[in-house]
Amino acid sequence: MDLSASGLTQRLAEAGQSHLLQFWGELSPEEQADLTHDLQGMDFKEISGFFKNAMETSSSSKQEKMDARMEPVPREVLGSVTRDRECLKDWELAGLQCISQSKVAVLLLAGGQGTRLGVSYPKGMYDVGLPSHKTLFQIQAERILKLQQLAEQKHKIKCHIPWYIMTSGRTMESTKEFFSRHNCFGLDKNNIIFFQQGMLPAMDYNGKIILENRGKLSMAPDGNGGLYRALGNQGIMDDMERRGIEFIHVYCVDNILVKVADPAFVGFCVEKGADCGAKVVEKTNPTEAVGVVCKVDGHYQVVEYSEITLATAEKRSADGRLMFNAGNVANHFFSFSFLRDVVQKYEPKLQHHVAQKKIPYVDAQGQLITPDKPNGIKMEKFVFDIFQFAKKFVVYEVLREDEFSPLKNADSQDGKDTPTTARHALMSLHHRWVLNAGGHFIDENGRRVPAIPSLKDGTDLPIKCEISPLVSYGGEGLEELVKEREFHPTLMIDKQGIHELVKNGV
Ligand code: UD1
Repeated sequence: MDLSASGLTQRLAEAGQSHLLQFWGELSPEEQADLTHDLQGMDFKEISGFFKNAMETSSSSKQEKMDARMEPVPREVLGSVTRDRECLKDWELAGLQCISQSKVAVLLLAGGQGTRLGVSYPKGMYDVGLPSHKTLFQIQAERILKLQQLAEQKHKIKCHIPWYIMTSGRTMESTKEFFSRHNCFGLDKNNIIFFQQGMLPAMDYNGKIILENRGKLSMAPDGNGGLYRALGNQGIMDDMERRGIEFIHVYCVDNILVKVADPAFVGFCVEKGADCGAKVVEKTNPTEAVGVVCKVDGHYQVVEYSEITLATAEKRSADGRLMFNAGNVANHFFSFSFLRDVVQKYEPKLQHHVAQKKIPYVDAQGQLITPDKPNGIKMEKFVFDIFQFAKKFVVYEVLREDEFSPLKNADSQDGKDTPTTARHALMSLHHRWVLNAGGHFIDENGRRVPAIPSLKDGTDLPIKCEISPLVSYGGEGLEELVKEREFHPTLMIDKQGIHELVKNGV
């Protein structure tokens, strides 16, 4: 292959990236073609600009200065499921009405690589070991289906909640294949729209792109804030406009309790006339890996857990609570017009964040090296970095035990955010739903299990109970099934009926 004719050698030299061709002569024709293809698609000038800006903004002195400028979220923009209990029903009705008019879409960020969980397939395909063995994708799909039904029943019109799913180069094919293998979990396939975010190369500290093998660049998705560029360059905003979408609920794939298209959250944001909103839970542990919603220089933003200093994370208010306690659960509300403005006007203003990583690379001899300390950076935009452009920003606080249990890490002793913690969180929520609806559980001796389980046997295992989202979206509609009845765990309630698995020897 004649490299100089393509102008590539010269472009690489100008960009200071000639090392990317150092093994050219050793590559097979196919490898040469793949490498040329990857390099030709790259805008080196843009990438080096990203690198310069990202390194500058991530310097530690800048970070400390930012800490000093942080202020907590003021009460007037805050709605809360506990403090504003009397408004909840109205918000929920308002949200359900928007859903019934097919004005609400949900957008799933599923382009991450699940590195911490250690799986090679998309996280949404993970089975946390529930009695039903449903995956995260299936749980979310069934919640959408149920919500459509609830809105239709209430307003007597047919409606749709389109589901936009952002994947990356690494997750697109397997995600699409999974959905098609499962017949879109009962949803209309025309209302599931896949699109793909961009990738960026990993770079060393001198701005040189890293080779992951002799003929391949080390590439990673450009962060969940890659969303905005992808929305624009793949015609997604046009699709939303065609469908008459006015409100969008954006969420992350890994929270097993996520209330997809949550009518109360949507209704709250709409009633407040907000163009942008964030759902939060109270952060109680300074080192918990959640970002905090706050104000910096008068603008709303999330300061990520990797970017806040410990001293600031530990600050407490007079009431003893963490001063920065609006823990980001990665559930955001955007009005369509705000999102369109972001895509058309503000996206280029978003800065990349820098993550220092141990990035496997090939050395000058062509040997693959796996470093034991960080040797370079990955650059990512963050989905919440557009909060600063909102004209009316609101925050909606929910209860952690009802709505937030993310799956981040593999199971380990005392591990946080694992398949086990996710499974337990879902089962204990459903246990509470049954109790609230007047049902009871009995143990193997036929005795009623107290509503507050005793820990005297040394276990804090939840009662095994799972309710299909197709039966109940948020605990509603269960009374007629469980009131004044007693159940042996494992209890499963699904469209087919009520199943007590242990009693039946399953
Ligand atoms: C994220 C939030 C953090 C929040 C926490 C709650 C961001 C940047 N950070 O952190 O503030 O407290 O969740 O659980 O949102 N993703 C992509 N493309 C990418 C990278 C990630 O689509 O290039 C998706 C993932 O698939 C996932 C979501 O974004 O659905 C969050 O990614 P993850 O890396 O798990 O975020 P955290 O660091 O846990």
